[in-house]
Order: sequence, then structure tokens, then C-alpha cells
Amino acid sequence: MTDPAEARVPLAVPRLEDLPDPAGKAVLVRVDFNVPLRAGDSGSPVVADDFRIRAALPTLEWLMDHGASVTACTHLGRPKGKVDPAYGVEPVRRALGELIGGVELLENLRFDPGEEAGDPATVDRLVDGYDLFVNDAFGVCHREHASVVGPPGRIPSAAGRLVEREVGMLSRLMVEPARPYVVLLGGAKVSDKLGLIRSLLAKADKVVIAGAMAIAFAVVEAGLREGPGSAEARRWAAMAGLRQVAGLDEAVLEECRELLATHGERIMLPVDGVVLGTGEIPEVKPGYLGDAGRVLDIGPESSKLFAKTIRSAGTLFWNGPLGMFEDERFAAGTLVAAGAAAACRGYTVVGGGDTVAAVDRAGVAKEVDFLSTGGGATLELMEKGDLPGLAALRRGVA
Ligand code: 3PG
Repeated sequence: MTDPAEARVPLAVPRLEDLPDPAGKAVLVRVDFNVPLRAGDSGSPVVADDFRIRAALPTLEWLMDHGASVTACTHLGRPKGKVDPAYGVEPVRRALGELIGGVELLENLRFDPGEEAGDPATVDRLVDGYDLFVNDAFGVCHREHASVVGPPGRIPSAAGRLVEREVGMLSRLMVEPARPYVVLLGGAKVSDKLGLIRSLLAKADKVVIAGAMAIAFAVVEAGLREGPGSAEARRWAAMAGLRQVAGLDEAVLEECRELLATHGERIMLPVDGVVLGTGEIPEVKPGYLGDAGRVLDIGPESSKLFAKTIRSAGTLFWNGPLGMFEDERFAAGTLVAAGAAAACRGYTVVGGGDTVAAVDRAGVAKEVDFLSTGGGATLELMEKGDLPGLAALRRGVA
């Protein structure tokens, strides 16, 4: 039988306090400073949003306060294993220097092809000269990259404060969540998220699916209503779904069909949608299949139903905007959901850059219990219950 204390923290990772005394030691800290850049006044790139840099400061400060000499390392964008000045970390280095002095920042880890390949020789080069390693890059803990999974096998390692907090807050979704547990999933690509949906259906009381992703389910629902393979189902698939949803093919539709047939009562889909009608005017359509145009937001009926479910959640996890919210004509569904999440008295977690931005835009970021810095990492943790970067820290030096 599992020890109850352990069951509450199934993902427990070594913390900064578990490291050998860092005084006088050289410490390498893997951070996720994959931040957006913009052209500065002089034309050279500057950091557009330093949220991720500030999020790592508690760890960097703790290490310096304990007498360590600290070097940070990060990836920036996807330079594909080649040195590319467009992805150089100099703007990030400057922004870091303005927030905290005395921390060195290595050049973009992804300039080395061995980083993404998880090459042991890259790990050797990376840890050479360092006594201790700290992983504070939650956003890449799902990647089996050299700098994420390699160093804990070589030198004493721990999770930084950010990773520790992410693990603690996200564990509450996975271990005995207060009921009803409601998951709200938006976003585009359904094929990427079927494993996640399947895994969440086993734990959550309701999985609310919206965004372009819901079109696949709506196509299948139309098929189930009219009979599989019916002319109606084929018409919708051809006109609405297959044309606009990346990765929506027969295999995906078949899996959606199976999920609806086995877990239909736990899946909640939009009942209406907003399309761009003639004259570029948004138009509400019943169902979620726009024969005349793309479905770009959930409709008002769906907003009402979703908001009620969200508000009544004992635990809420939300990832992915419900429509194309960056265009204000299609932001209503996402903003209603953000308002409902803020009004929810249960434990509320929002993850993913776009969703956090939406909650921010709705002005309710402070009303949500936890904003996860992870996009893919948070979803993979929800799906699989652990991440390679966390497992490596737990394994430590063999
Ligand atoms: C992110 O921005 O989600 C992380 O930094 C991971 O980046 P990646 O998807 O390029 O690995």
C-alpha cells in the first residue's frame, strides 16, 4: 500500500535544500528563457516579455545567497542544431543582467545538434566544470533533451523553485481532485490531443472540448446521429472538418467516434458556433459545423452551458482558447470561460501561453489559483502522470 504522504506528492522531486551545501560551488541551472523577442529602438532584438526570466529569479537568488557561483543555460526558439545569430541569447542575457547581476548565461543550447538528440557527449561537455545542477525549466521537462535529462545522471541535482511549485500545484489535479473535476480543452490540433483526452476521461467528471478540435467530434456526432457513413456525415466531414482541421483524417475520426461511444456522457461539446458570414460579419450557427465558413468561436448557447459547468467545478484544468480569441469578433467564448473560471470556487489551474494570455486579457489572472508556465509539458504531465525531466531528477546519479 502506498504511504498516504507519498500518495499526496506522487511526483516529489529533490529540492534545492536536498543539494550538498552550494557555498563555493559552481552550479549550472537549466532555465526556460524561451521568451518572445521584438525589435528594439535601435533595431536590434529585445525581450518582449520577461515573465519566464522573472519566474526563475527565486532559484537564482537562493543559489547566490547560499554562496554558489551560478551559470544559467537555456534554449531559445528552434534553430535546429545550427548556429544561427537570429536565435542568439544576447537579448536575453541583457534582460537577465537588468534583473539580477552576477549570473552568467550560456549560448543557446539548441545550437548544438546533440541537445535535442540527447547526446551523452553533449551532456559531458555541458556539465564539465560544474559541481551541481538545478533544473528550473518546467516548460521543457517533457523533452528528452541533453540538458534536461542528462546532468542529473552526472552530478548532484535538484529541481528549482519554479519546477517544485509546478509539480506541487499540478499534483493537486492528479491526486484526489475535488469533485466535480472539469477539464476544458481548446486549441487546434485534435490528433495531438487524443491521448490526453483519453487519459483525462478516465479521471475527470467532464471534459469540455472546444476550439477547432471540437470540429472532429462534431463531425462524428453528426455521423452518429445520421448513421455512420451516412451522406450527412460525409458531407460535414468534407465541407467542415477535413478542410479546416490540421491532422483530421479517418483514423482520428474513428478514435473520436470510439471515445464518444464509450465516454459520451463525460464529453461536452459546443452546441452552436460562430462563423464569418457574408460581408465579414460573424454569424451564429446551430451545431458546431459551419457549412458556409469556418467555425471560429463557440456560440452563445455553448458559452452559457460551458460557463455553468466551469463555475460548478470542484477542480478545473483549462488549456487552449475556445476560439480565435486574438480577433475580438471571436473572443467572446474564451472570455466568458475566463470569467466563469474566475467565479469558480474550486481549485483552478490554467496552462499554456495562449490560455494564460486569454485569462490575462479578461483581467482575471489573479482570480485563478495557478497559472502554469508549461504548455506541452503541462499537457504531457496530465496525460502520462510524469515527465522525463522530473524522472531524471528523481533517479539522480546512478
Ligand atoms: C515552450 O515554449 O513551450 C518551451 O520553451 C518548449 O519549447 P519547445 O516546444 O521548442 O521545446
